[in-house]
Amino acid sequence: MSDMTTIDDAERRGRSDLWPFWRRVYAERDPLPKLECQVSRPGYRFGEGEKLPEEYRSLLLKMMRHEGERAGNKSFLGLMGTCLDIAETFPPAARVVKAEYVAEELKHAIMFHRLAVGLDPDFALRDVPYAHYAFHLPRETWADDAFFHFFVDLNGAFHARDWRESSYVPLAKMSATVERDELGHSEMGYWFLREIVSDARGRVLAQSLLPKWYAAALDMFGRSDSPNVPRFIQWGLKSVGNAEIRQAYKSYVDAKLVALGLDRPDERAGRRFL
Ligand SMILES: [Fe+2]
Repeated sequence: MSDMTTIDDAERRGRSDLWPFWRRVYAERDPLPKLECQVSRPGYRFGEGEKLPEEYRSLLLKMMRHEGERAGNKSFLGLMGTCLDIAETFPPAARVVKAEYVAEELKHAIMFHRLAVGLDPDFALRDVPYAHYAFHLPRETWADDAFFHFFVDLNGAFHARDWRESSYVPLAKMSATVERDELGHSEMGYWFLREIVSDARGRVLAQSLLPKWYAAALDMFGRSDSPNVPRFIQWGLKSVGNAEIRQAYKSYVDAKLVALGLDRPDERAGRRFL
């Protein structure tokens, strides 16, 4: 059995009725909205190892610094450790699922490591602490952790959706896998939430924690007037602006929150980046 089939086999043997969560969703429909570029732009395409224009390379590295899951990023490994710590208090079924989640993020760490080495070997070993405050919000309860995955992994899925048209070929190639896996991680958070709000006390707790996570989730898309966005779009590294992808994301999460019977917070409350 070749190395790659061994990894595929390990992933296949991990499949159950529950895991990975994306299988049920994608079997029914394409869950994420299309993110289509509305401006005309040159059709750049750059492969691995190709000489990259300086501005393009620095924008791509800036984008990759946001993607923490990379084997050479100590902060990522630290975050995975925290995830397992938090899971120690979870119900047994949730703990198993959480371990599957970590295994899948480690698979991503291999994929992003490979991309980083192809782009800049020095960057591949660089520790990039998680800058966004969403990663530093207290995760003291199962409900906090559920919201973290529901919102933050979904942010990863939306970004990966936007890479489908990426002008950087290695990123476009891995976008569909990263998107579906991250959507699965978000669904894991949603599955936790469904358990939590199934009783009155859990529902009250979830409703009280929601505003904190909702604001952070919307803030993860950055400022709507970010000066870099037009350059990202022109180079084909992004297809839409921060406001557009945030709005598409908000429509998605609002529908999911309402389906749980939770009240949607005011979208401007507690925000740091509008
Ligand atoms: Fe994830």
